[in-house]
Amino acid sequence: MKIAVVGTGYVGLVTGTCFAETGNEVICVDIDQSKVDRLSNGEITIYEPGLEKLFLRNLKEGRLSFTTSLADGIKDAVIIFLALPTPPGADGAADLRYVLGVAEDIGKLLTDYKVLVDKSTVPVGTADKVREAVAKNYNGEFDVVSNPEFLREGVAVDDFMKPDRVVIGVSSERARKLMGDLYAPFVRSGNPVIYMDERSAELTKYAANSFLATKISFMNEIAQLCERLGADVDMVRLGIGSDDRIGKRFLFPGIGYGGSCFPKDVQALVQSASQVEYDFRILNAVMDVNEKQKTHLLPKIRRYFGNDLKGKKFALWGLAFKPNTDDIREAPALYMIDELIKEGASVTAFDPEAIRNVKQVLGDKISYAENQYDALQDADALVIATEWNEFRTPDFLKMVVRMRNKVIFDGRNLFDTKAIAELGFHYESVGRNT
Ligand code: UGA
Repeated sequence: MKIAVVGTGYVGLVTGTCFAETGNEVICVDIDQSKVDRLSNGEITIYEPGLEKLFLRNLKEGRLSFTTSLADGIKDAVIIFLALPTPPGADGAADLRYVLGVAEDIGKLLTDYKVLVDKSTVPVGTADKVREAVAKNYNGEFDVVSNPEFLREGVAVDDFMKPDRVVIGVSSERARKLMGDLYAPFVRSGNPVIYMDERSAELTKYAANSFLATKISFMNEIAQLCERLGADVDMVRLGIGSDDRIGKRFLFPGIGYGGSCFPKDVQALVQSASQVEYDFRILNAVMDVNEKQKTHLLPKIRRYFGNDLKGKKFALWGLAFKPNTDDIREAPALYMIDELIKEGASVTAFDPEAIRNVKQVLGDKISYAENQYDALQDADALVIATEWNEFRTPDFLKMVVRMRNKVIFDGRNLFDTKAIAELGFHYESVGRNT
């Protein structure tokens, strides 16, 4: 099948590459000339495990190409995916400027039947708006489909190639058949393609992310209780997660959820609800809990240092909002850094992938280390903000000889509390009593 993907951000690039991988001919369109040049020359623009290999192979074999011309991109395509940014507007609602702008432009270019697919996370009713935008300039036959994406950064290729489910909001038989054929190779294992109306598909995406964020905030509150009641959140997590109705996943407490999706999508759903005069109380609490959780370690740190962080030197492991990505959007580490610096401390950070991005935002406000051990040189304490695997079983001897104090504040519960106490560390984590 011939496919166009408009927007080569995170979702667009993964979508385009994975559709090419199953034998489709994919043209990706982006207005950014330098990005298109880099991609055309085989330089991948995002860090995502496993993507580069597929990207290079499909580029070489001619199934994947890039252009800045919307007209060239969509000319032969049967299906056009819109994978455009939907940033929060001033009121927290998703800003549809890019999606609707491109839909209008596509309307000017259409000459025959095509399917436009909303892949971006968009508020309920967007498919109708896209339809109207196209129809401003085109009165032939076309369809608009809502096909939200559920991939996670860090495991995006796997999530795309082997989805738990594919949700397709569609109201025409013709478009339904085309979408079903396109996705057939991805659901051979038996996972479902769930067809529904466009509005339900649009809401499914927000509901999924908001539910997952709710699980996390719930566990963060249970962790707070554990600390006050002398219980261990890891035990409670295992105890409740074994119930199939609850499930084991997304029950890990920490220093809050971040990234480009949960914070934005929860806020957008609250905003959408308020536009139809509904107060989504649970989600307001979810956001509130998350804000507080980002600074959960600070009172512990202050208490340890007698409320005076002036001149203290902190090592920080982890800057990305989660492991296996270089994404620092809404990363809890950045909130920690802000607070520590405000109180007169200095920070030396290490992250396996995200340093380059942090340097662009923070410059020389903090120092950066070449590896996790260098970050510890003369540190008064180590703060852990992201659970990269390489932080899980460090060489404690190497740590001890570099650190001024054997003190760790762990926002991701990486270490066994007893084992680390036996090594002589003062160790504080989330929802566990040491
Ligand atoms: C999330 C969803 O998981 C995807 O299904 C969705 O497609 C994507 O948003 C999106 O809307 O595009 P992502 O933001 O990549 O994916 O990251 P997650 O792995 O879901 O993690 C989100 C945040 O929750 C991270 O900050 C992570 O540290 C935190 N988290 C996750 C916890 O604090 N505890 C957990 O148990 C799980």
